[in-house]
Amino acid sequence: MTIGTLTQVIYLVSAGAFILSLKWMSDPRTARRGVFAGVGAMVLAVAGTLLHPEIVAFRWIVIAVVIGTLVGVPLSWVPLTAVPQRTALSHAFGGLAAGLVGTAKYYMWLGDGGLTTFRMGAIGAEVLLGYLTCTGSLMAAGKLQEIIPTRPLTYRNQNIINIGLLAVALVTAVTLMFRPELSWLFPIVIVLSLTFGVLLVLPIGGADMPTVISLLNAYAGLSAVAMGFVMENRLLITAGALDGSSGLILSIIMCKAMNRSFTNVLFGAFGRVQAAGAAVEPRTAKSATAEDAAHLLENARSVVIIPGYGMAVAQAQHRVRDLRDELAKRGIDVKFAIHPVAGRMPGHMNVLLAEAEIPYDSLIEMDDINPEMPQVDVALVIGANDVVNPAARRDPTSPIYGMPIIDADKAKTVLAIKRSMNPGFAGIENDLYFADNTLMLFGDAKAVVGEVVKQLAGGQGVH
Ligand code: TAP
Repeated sequence: MTIGTLTQVIYLVSAGAFILSLKWMSDPRTARRGVFAGVGAMVLAVAGTLLHPEIVAFRWIVIAVVIGTLVGVPLSWVPLTAVPQRTALSHAFGGLAAGLVGTAKYYMWLGDGGLTTFRMGAIGAEVLLGYLTCTGSLMAAGKLQEIIPTRPLTYRNQNIINIGLLAVALVTAVTLMFRPELSWLFPIVIVLSLTFGVLLVLPIGGADMPTVISLLNAYAGLSAVAMGFVMENRLLITAGALDGSSGLILSIIMCKAMNRSFTNVLFGAFGRVQAAGAAVEPRTAKSATAEDAAHLLENARSVVIIPGYGMAVAQAQHRVRDLRDELAKRGIDVKFAIHPVAGRMPGHMNVLLAEAEIPYDSLIEMDDINPEMPQVDVALVIGANDVVNPAARRDPTSPIYGMPIIDADKAKTVLAIKRSMNPGFAGIENDLYFADNTLMLFGDAKAVVGEVVKQLAGGQGVH
């Protein structure tokens, strides 16, 4: 077997492993295997590439691997709550790599007359998508980390300016396809796509960043496809297409879960600080103690726990597991209601609950749990806010109107754990906390749940 054939065989196995990885990752039972398959596929792809006979010296490759490792390893240490911005940073690097490879290839082929119309088209797509993904993802990471303001930074005629900018970049790239020797046009494409990435994300609110990130993931994938055509590498084309389509599917799932459209996410300025409406009467919420909560829970027949972002912040999942065990011991039916966008990334709650080894069959999807909610004795909301806000059902003027929610308010009693009356990610008040059947348990989720478990385990004061 020649080296060339060996490389192609390795690429074929790698492509198969990438496909299996995505398939396995779509189910929690096989997700771990999926991650290993993805890592294996990547190692094979790199190994296959290093076999290329065109590589005459490994010095630069070794330097790049060392730098990549130095940057990559600390990135893996971030807490789970910071994974969305970490993912955005990875996309920024991916986009930058694609943009730089396209730039290098342009100048190489410009020198030796290799710039055919097809190659120039592929380079144009790669550079445009790569650089806009780079700056767009950096902006998204900055917003999620709150380094830059999370509110939508809108400006006059922003949509006209953005579309105009993109149109000029496209026309310039197309001109280069037919007149590649007009090399002064190439830096213009680069600058315009870098600027477009910034201006595209700036007017979008922080709450929409996860959707924007998976959309940018799709762009990064498409840019890798274009890079595959430039480098004549079939594996890059396959892997890029998988990356691009999975990013797009994820964005669609998120938009559906929030009842939003792509146009609304990209141009809707969701999360804009709203002008104060008519003065509302100050309302008070009823608060309860851990002892009250333990008493209520102990006397319930069915309890539905609704976790949200606050459970992730508090890292309360292990205490929640203890609570579930205490209740299950008493023969109480305990279920977990999972909202598709609870937390800050898809599957956020599933990952946390799985980490605490909560049986997977007690996790119930929103659509399946909602019909049961009116029969539920206690809905225990742990650090969730927007995903249980009844304004989504009742108030057409609310920015989250139409977003599907978990109907916690329909349970006989609601216990809600959070630290204050501050709003959630959408920045709006939640009527649920003021309802007659709601009791607030103020405090850090881990501490409060721990206290309730202590009350239940010790039996002090209960009954
Ligand atoms: P949020 O609406 O953000 O509410 C979280 C609540 O947790 C806050 O009200 C906060 O109240 C409380 N909290 C924070 N730290 C806490 C702690 N240590 N202990 C106890 N409570 C704590 O969360 P959610 O209900 O999960 O909704 C998710 C939001 O993110 C939605 O608006 C959704 O659209 C958006 N989003 C999510 C995704 C994905 S993929 N998950 C994608 C796009 C958008 P206090 O400050 O008073 O404690």
